[in-house]
Amino acid sequence: MSDIFDYIQPDSLHALIRQYSEVLDIPVSILDEQRKVIFKHPEKSPRAKSERRELRIKDNSIGYISVPSSGRSPGAALDFIEQNLTEILSMGYEIDSLSGEVARNYEEMSLLWQLTSRLGVGLDSDKVCRVLADEAMKICPSRNVSILLLAETPSRVPKTSCIVTTKEDEVPENVPFFLPEVSLGEDAKSASMMALSAAHGLMGEVYKRKEPITICDVAKDERFEGFTFPIKRILVVPLLVEDDVIGAIVAGDKLDGEEFYSTEIRLIMSIATECAVSIKKALLYDEIHDMLFSTAEAFSLAMDAKDPYTYGHSKRVSELAAGIGESMGLPADTIGKVRLAALLHDIGKLGTPEVILGKISNLEPDEMEMMREHAYMGARMIENIKRMREISTWMCHHHEKFDGSGYPSGLKGEQIPLPSRIIALADYYDALTSDRPYRKALTKEDAINEMKAVVGKHFDPAVYEHFLKVTS
Ligand SMILES: [Fe+2]
Repeated sequence: MSDIFDYIQPDSLHALIRQYSEVLDIPVSILDEQRKVIFKHPEKSPRAKSERRELRIKDNSIGYISVPSSGRSPGAALDFIEQNLTEILSMGYEIDSLSGEVARNYEEMSLLWQLTSRLGVGLDSDKVCRVLADEAMKICPSRNVSILLLAETPSRVPKTSCIVTTKEDEVPENVPFFLPEVSLGEDAKSASMMALSAAHGLMGEVYKRKEPITICDVAKDERFEGFTFPIKRILVVPLLVEDDVIGAIVAGDKLDGEEFYSTEIRLIMSIATECAVSIKKALLYDEIHDMLFSTAEAFSLAMDAKDPYTYGHSKRVSELAAGIGESMGLPADTIGKVRLAALLHDIGKLGTPEVILGKISNLEPDEMEMMREHAYMGARMIENIKRMREISTWMCHHHEKFDGSGYPSGLKGEQIPLPSRIIALADYYDALTSDRPYRKALTKEDAINEMKAVVGKHFDPAVYEHFLKVTS
């Protein structure tokens, strides 16, 4: 319910009534909805029979205008006051709505600004989904908020998922699925097991209509299916990039028990739009990254294949080096690069004659020189790729030793890049635990004992400590 003071300040109304009274030369009163006088002018006008006119703004009754019946043309006076006052009050209403709109826009913009700061410049789809879920949970604190991404093929559907595809529980081919990437709230574990078909049901409708859908009572709505946790109200907002649905935000049951309001839906749609583009970019980046890794893996396999004794060596070194990097708390991005550098660390051996690689007896000095060139040559092979320059440096120094007695540069201690120190240790351990033409593979315990003797000489003691943690 609204009253006249929702639209005008008391002082301004008082001034207006006085002006109407003076211009029309009659007493004028304003009454509230209970017909009680709020203002009148002149204040001490005698009581007399009056005519009233209801004041309405946007279909709301907010009071009455009253003038004496005995005056000159009371109907015309009421017409004049009603029209003039309604216009003034409506203007106040419009200004109020505009300020509301400005406030909402401000809220939306500050939300997007915070979101952009949180997303940063990195390309990590998991991080973006987590930020999106967090922000959606802040806008609508709910029992569950999940971010689902669309998987184009059923092969990506995890085996653990509760697959909901058709009412007959069949798994049709080439039907996209919504798979949870991040789930927050009390039903997070259960929600993370869902795999919802985009072919039908509620998710199918969101996929087809590309618009948010909210259901106030899922028990009465036959589109609702496949959710793995109890729920009464649900909001699904699609993640759209241009015209493609790439996923959805699902929020279930607000904690205050209320329905999902349009202002909240609008805010969630804004952050969804912002994040969808970042997610799409991150997914493309992941795809390129996977392609790069597959290519690097193919190269390392080709190189390992030159020597049957080293088959699979590069991949094992890569896994171990990444494990040590994780244990040392290196950033995910650096660990990815360490993994790649380790995978390619011996790629320079593609240029080493096979007679030298496969020689069982000790190498002659010139042969040793050629063998050692692989570290430098491998780095040269990729240094012209701008994004691989750092990795190329790490590869170049994977035979440096902590005491400075290694090659190709004789770097010492922390002069050796940390990733090179990690790869050097992982490389050495894998060589000891693999069969060689001249000896059988050592057991893990024997290899560790042998390495213990050269910690601080060959290896960085800090890296060695983390290696022990990873292999224990
Ligand atoms: Fe090497």
